[in-house]
Amino acid sequence: MKVGILSGGGDAPGINAVIRAVARRGIQSYGDKVVGIRDGWRGLLEGTFMALDLSTVSGILPRGGSILGTSRTNPFKRDKGPEQIMENTAKAGLEAVIAIGGDDTLSVAHKMADYGLKCVGVPKTIDNDLVGTDYTFGFNTAVAIATEALDRLHTTAEAHNRVIILEVMGRYTGHIALEAGLAGGADVILIPEKPFDIEEVCEYIRRRQKRGRNFSLIVVAEGAKPKGGKEIVYSESIDEFGHISLGGVGYYLGKEIEKCTGIETRVVVLGHLQRGGSPTAFDRILATRFGIAAIDLAHEGKFDCMVALQGNKIVSVPLKDVVGKRKTVDMELYDIASVFFG
Ligand code: F6P
Repeated sequence: MKVGILSGGGDAPGINAVIRAVARRGIQSYGDKVVGIRDGWRGLLEGTFMALDLSTVSGILPRGGSILGTSRTNPFKRDKGPEQIMENTAKAGLEAVIAIGGDDTLSVAHKMADYGLKCVGVPKTIDNDLVGTDYTFGFNTAVAIATEALDRLHTTAEAHNRVIILEVMGRYTGHIALEAGLAGGADVILIPEKPFDIEEVCEYIRRRQKRGRNFSLIVVAEGAKPKGGKEIVYSESIDEFGHISLGGVGYYLGKEIEKCTGIETRVVVLGHLQRGGSPTAFDRILATRFGIAAIDLAHEGKFDCMVALQGNKIVSVPLKDVVGKRKTVDMELYDIASVFFG
């Protein structure tokens, strides 16, 4: 079989582990030819490929980023994009495509099934907001990095009696903020699923002061917004999937908190440090299991589906049940975290 593989959307630690697993399993177990598609869907639109053999994928397991590159290209926003994709797929002789991505990339994979593209999806996003899978790969690494950042901020916040706000990624959901906040002992966690009241946030800080704790750590997801207000936008430009660039809610909060508590406040935006660098062991293993399962599904002739982790089992779920939806945080877990607020 000749199999193409692409990574689309924002990168996540573990993409290379998926590519390695697909290539190793495909070449060794099935005698496949594995072709790398450059820069997400753009590579199939433009016909830019790279051969993947055992030596190309050697040594990439711990490496962040994607050896194939990635982009937020949406073929449905291009004139005759889907037809172009089918033409280039046929020209390259690809019998199946493995698409590593989040909701945007997998929505394209699902829509392309109507044009005859045979696609298997692999769930990737540090935000962990894809439905159908307990975890996407990349999330565990992002949480580990954000937790380490919180541990470091803790000591300096305490030494200076300051409030420190850590802004993490999470456009529509607060999975990273919640898990890192829990692991790092945050005093307040603010997530997109629960608009915040600035007075309530300040009250938590004052409550700590009364207990003699003159410093506080707050974790906020970039998509969190004040009650009755809107998300804070970093730039007005909108990508091909209609997403605006968020960022800056930490600074908004910092000013408000300083105003209402009088406590010196500092803001740290963790940004792409959460996405760069080496995956954790958990993500390496998950990405490897996903890669093996994806190529196996292609050989079983099961397409228009995504590999997923449910419990400790790797399963497949139809893409129609995944795309266009969003897995929000478990509010029971948020309630546990809130026991430690203030
Ligand atoms: O893909 C998810 C994400 O991690 C979001 O949380 C964030 O808004 C976005 O990526 C930022 O990506 P970029 O800066 O690459 O556009």
